Amino acid sequence: MASLDYNSVIMVQNAGVSAKYRLCLKRPIYPCIHLNMWYTMDLMLVSEMGLFKKEDMKGIEGFTLSCKILNIGPEDYFNQLDVEVRSLCEEACEWSGLTNIEWAGICGDKGGLEFRVVAKNSVGDNELCSHHRRYLHVYPSAEVVHNPGSGGDPAEYTQRDIVDHRLVSLVIGPIELGQCYKYPSSCIHHQMFSNGFRDDATCIDDSLFNSSLECSSSRSSPSSFYSSPSPESLVSISTISNQSSWTSETYLVNNHRAFSLPHNKTLVIQELWDAGIPGKVWDSAFIVAQYMGDCFLKNESVLFGKRILDLSTGTGFVGLYLAALCGVMSNGKAVKEMKQTTVLLTDLEPAIDLIEKNQSLNHYLFKDVKVSTEIEVLSWGDVSKTRRLGPFDIVLASDVIYEPELFDALIQTFVTVCTPNQTHVYVGYKRRGLSPQEEEEFFLKLAEEFKVTVVEGIGKAAEEQKIKIYKLTR
Ligand SMILES: C[S@@+](CC[C@H](N)C(=O)[O-])C[C@H]1O[C@@H](n2cnc3c(N)ncnc32)[C@H](O)[C@@H]1O
Repeated sequence: MASLDYNSVIMVQNAGVSAKYRLCLKRPIYPCIHLNMWYTMDLMLVSEMGLFKKEDMKGIEGFTLSCKILNIGPEDYFNQLDVEVRSLCEEACEWSGLTNIEWAGICGDKGGLEFRVVAKNSVGDNELCSHHRRYLHVYPSAEVVHNPGSGGDPAEYTQRDIVDHRLVSLVIGPIELGQCYKYPSSCIHHQMFSNGFRDDATCIDDSLFNSSLECSSSRSSPSSFYSSPSPESLVSISTISNQSSWTSETYLVNNHRAFSLPHNKTLVIQELWDAGIPGKVWDSAFIVAQYMGDCFLKNESVLFGKRILDLSTGTGFVGLYLAALCGVMSNGKAVKEMKQTTVLLTDLEPAIDLIEKNQSLNHYLFKDVKVSTEIEVLSWGDVSKTRRLGPFDIVLASDVIYEPELFDALIQTFVTVCTPNQTHVYVGYKRRGLSPQEEEEFFLKLAEEFKVTVVEGIGKAAEEQKIKIYKLTR
């Protein structure tokens, strides 16, 4: 096979690479949200490794955050709801172990905000009981930088436009919205607070709302924020909100990510950080998805009608993003004349539940068009199963080179999925744990089987985070 010009491929770089940072929930949120009430959201900022390095922020002290409602569903939908945000009160900062943050958002790696959902106009039941799934989208609105005080003035913070999108926004949900018709006089939840009186027999634990009560200008009591609800109080809230199924498992602890698609559509991907390696979208996945998506938008034949494999997909993000893009772009085209596009998502058994969940969350995006998604368990080195699943036109593998003991099995899999002169294999890579020697060993082995080239022009973000995409052909 073609020999590798190793110097053109090797990642000459320091181990300390700058990372993409994810906004994550630090404490669970209860999904039943009343209009007009203030709720507290505790947040943190971490890299794909769950870490934070201040040097990566390049002088940025933090980010101000905004919130909006995201409606996910088959039809376009005009949203009548706004989300207002304000900074955490002093007591809440203390409670959360934060130094007082002057803005609603993140300072360093920690932060939070208070939010409330309000109606732009008056909303009726139809609006609140929309068949769309509703999420809260928390996204950065400005960077905060520190200006050292001059002439004895105290140091101060200023805000500036976001110049770089190294922050991955957070999507929380699905949420249920409710409205208190008799507010404030007879709503049991509001009443007990407005009267300053708690009747233990009927009392509802305010932590159900993980929130403060709306008292126009007054701020919440931190002691009411985060305690777990008692089972009895869960029953009480069920009655009020007409939801019979709220249980403590209903608390929203998992983060979702949202990805914009053409025609105002959005792909939502759930992450499960507790699930370990496959439970989150890794840095190189963003780059691989973006690169393939851009190629497709320039030339639809890149993906339309192709059989595509997202090998070791983790959350399912890369494959589902491309399937959704194909689905959205097929709209309005004559279905009969289109060739079937198929995206196969594979991973180890423990990852499959999350992939299935993400497939079904986004199913409507590739329904009624000639795009299908399939899911299979596939372990590297399982040659007979790999053969049965093929052949493929495009194989994507993001962030799979990290375990020297599995190099041979992984390369064997690349060989099996690659039909000579037909299949293009794209491998996204960012160095993390591998030593330069291990990296060299991998790429030299790879070059014994493939012609390996580095894909050029994959953008500033990839360059900054030292991510590469390799194209393998035989
Ligand atoms: C770092 S994650 C990358 C996930 C996803 N491609 C991304 O970039 O977001 C590595 C993936 O490889 C999968 N994996 C690890 N060992 C594997 C093996 N022996 N066979 C198949 N998949 C494996 C993991 O389950 C995980 O989903």
